[in-house]
Amino acid sequence: MINKLKFWKTSKENDALEERINALKELPMPKHVAIIMDGNGRWAKKRALPRVAGHHEGMKRVRRITRLASKLGIEVLTLYAFSTENWKRPKSEVDYLMKLPGEFLGTFLPELKEENVRVQMMGYKDKLPEHTLGAVGKAITETEHNNGLILNFALNYGSRDEIVRAVKNIVHDVKKGKLTEKDITEANFSNYLMSHSLRDPDLLIRTSGEIRLSNFMLWQLAYTEFFFSDVLWPDFNEENLVEAIEVYQQRSRRYGGLKSEGVEE
Ligand code: FPP
Repeated sequence: MINKLKFWKTSKENDALEERINALKELPMPKHVAIIMDGNGRWAKKRALPRVAGHHEGMKRVRRITRLASKLGIEVLTLYAFSTENWKRPKSEVDYLMKLPGEFLGTFLPELKEENVRVQMMGYKDKLPEHTLGAVGKAITETEHNNGLILNFALNYGSRDEIVRAVKNIVHDVKKGKLTEKDITEANFSNYLMSHSLRDPDLLIRTSGEIRLSNFMLWQLAYTEFFFSDVLWPDFNEENLVEAIEVYQQRSRRYGGLKSEGVEE
């Protein structure tokens, strides 16, 4: 059970944020929030620090944002931690990024367990180092019976590749006679994606002022509400997440229809 969280330096600021958090609970909450955590490199550059310092600070923000998401009763938090394209970065940076899940989970897994968080991963295991897979695998196993927030790391994830592999698997199943052409529906197609056990994101947040999807959940984001923030990920705080959800709650989701449904109940 999480008690009152202390976000800010002064109790006045804390109380103001607590009030906004309580107000959020009066309206439907996004059940699945996905975040493209961008801007770590620029955060470091602004401080004349190496890029990896930005990633390390970004890792610490993952803990804070996860804690608030859990407190808010969000069901799934998907975080884009490493894309299939990120292998193009210098080896030293890739090596560092591959160590972060181990450091994060080595430090915070006990707290995540206490908060009933369930860790999951979405991405290709083939190229990931043993130590990364080991740390994530341990967290997945040790939290698999938890039924609170699902903390879903997108690690070595790429959406186009995910879609191509889904098509190949469908073709394979058709050839094997497990599936016929008429079985290929949107719902069934979703079952072939790595996110098959999760609902589609209700809210996508991208930090750092970049306005693009970068090969992230292209199928799953078809009707998702987008929130782009200028804040660099290592500076993204509880107030920024609250603001994103406040904006989400003012949106009218029509799913291509005419009737304004407001946010989904
Ligand atoms: C993009 O910023 C960020 C990444 C490629 C890595 C994101 C990873 C983390 C925030 C830490 C992950 C933590 C865990 C627990 C796995 P960028 O480097 O592209 O920033 P830039 O656009 O400013 O250069």
